[in-house]
Amino acid sequence: MAFSYLNKRLHCDGVDLETIAQKYGTPTYVYSESILRRNVQVLKEAFIDRGFKVSYAMKANSNPAILKLFRDYGLGVDIVSAGEYKMAERVGFTGPEINFAGVGKTIAELDLALESEIGHFNVESRFELDLLESRAAVLDKRARVLLRLNPDIDPQTHPHISTGLKRSKFGMGSEKVFHILTHSSEYPHIIFKGIHCHIGSQIVNPQPFYDLIDYLSLFTGRLHSVGVDIQHLDLGGGFGVNYEEPFEDILTTTPYLETFAEIANKKLNQFQLHIQPGRVLVANSAVLLSRVLGIKHNGDQHFVVIDGATTDIVRPALYNAYHKVSAHQESQNSKIGDVVGPVCESSDALARQRELPDFKSGDLLTIASAGAYASSMGSTYNLRPLSPEVMILKEGTAKLIRRRQSFDEMVGLYV
Ligand code: LLP
Repeated sequence: MAFSYLNKRLHCDGVDLETIAQKYGTPTYVYSESILRRNVQVLKEAFIDRGFKVSYAMKANSNPAILKLFRDYGLGVDIVSAGEYKMAERVGFTGPEINFAGVGKTIAELDLALESEIGHFNVESRFELDLLESRAAVLDKRARVLLRLNPDIDPQTHPHISTGLKRSKFGMGSEKVFHILTHSSEYPHIIFKGIHCHIGSQIVNPQPFYDLIDYLSLFTGRLHSVGVDIQHLDLGGGFGVNYEEPFEDILTTTPYLETFAEIANKKLNQFQLHIQPGRVLVANSAVLLSRVLGIKHNGDQHFVVIDGATTDIVRPALYNAYHKVSAHQESQNSKIGDVVGPVCESSDALARQRELPDFKSGDLLTIASAGAYASSMGSTYNLRPLSPEVMILKEGTAKLIRRRQSFDEMVGLYV
């Protein structure tokens, strides 16, 4: 069922979204537990059942209810900050189930992860490796490390989310990685477990992934020829989803998952393979439910002003990303216009020059694909409290999984 029209009104798993708006107000993120379960089941069958280790990149959505659901399917978690560590710990992930990625880690973060005996660090630079070596020596620990290799492969996605090109800030070039791995004895407190790559995000054409597999096959062959054998290869995340048709099934929107797993297994079969997907698991599991505040026209421009904003979904402003807009009440009439929020920025638009239902003040609407990089990138700009999150459970009941931030919580930070 997921998100679908019943009696011309948009429902989530049998629950009319109007009842959610009345109970929790708007804007509110609404998640479908059944979609989350279907997504994680598909990834489990494609990857975990083929021997991969899957760590959920929790930057995509760090709500503990979602983390807990994924943990129950055997996923680990990929973190990028002490805050994410704390949330993962709260949910019950233990050290070995946690990987720590990211281009800049503080001493406090390295110490926290070392003390917690996390599974491994994905190290992105020599300065980070030197720091980790010295902190591990101080704390009398040995750190398990994958070196992040920058393979200079174009993922053919938005430039802001391309991470595996030579000029990007991420990872290290192959010669540096080769040098470190052939001089590993210089790092007595580091156990070099393998290599990590993450070439980008929202990758819909799988060819760059297949290029990555070939690249790693050659590179590890070169290491082997000089007597360096690693055990682990982490191929990163980046699986794209269909923003145009968000209510389709994950296997329809991202059809190459199984083929990718099979090719990786065939060509890199001597390694323990890992992936760290974020978006594909969560993006299309949620909508942002919002209400129309009013309609206005400036010149020949038609604006639908809503109570949701870039503070709830920043992706259109940041990447010119497309998020589907749907009326709660199915209608035939349409108008070309922009859906904009109340924030004092011209970039505060959720949709531009779109064929939209003929909205009126007070109508409910949804912005789709609000499960990934939406609430986790939310902000309180204009002192707008963070919006609540509600999950529609399998049995068709609504559960609040994050409260709306109160004004007191928001202004109380200021001392
Ligand atoms: N691993 C690493 C090292 C990453 O940097 C990322 C995402 C992932 C895994 C997960 O990638 P995914 O499977 O979600 O594509 N805010 C942007 C996306 C930023 C992605 C950052 N890194 C957006 O809204 O499109």
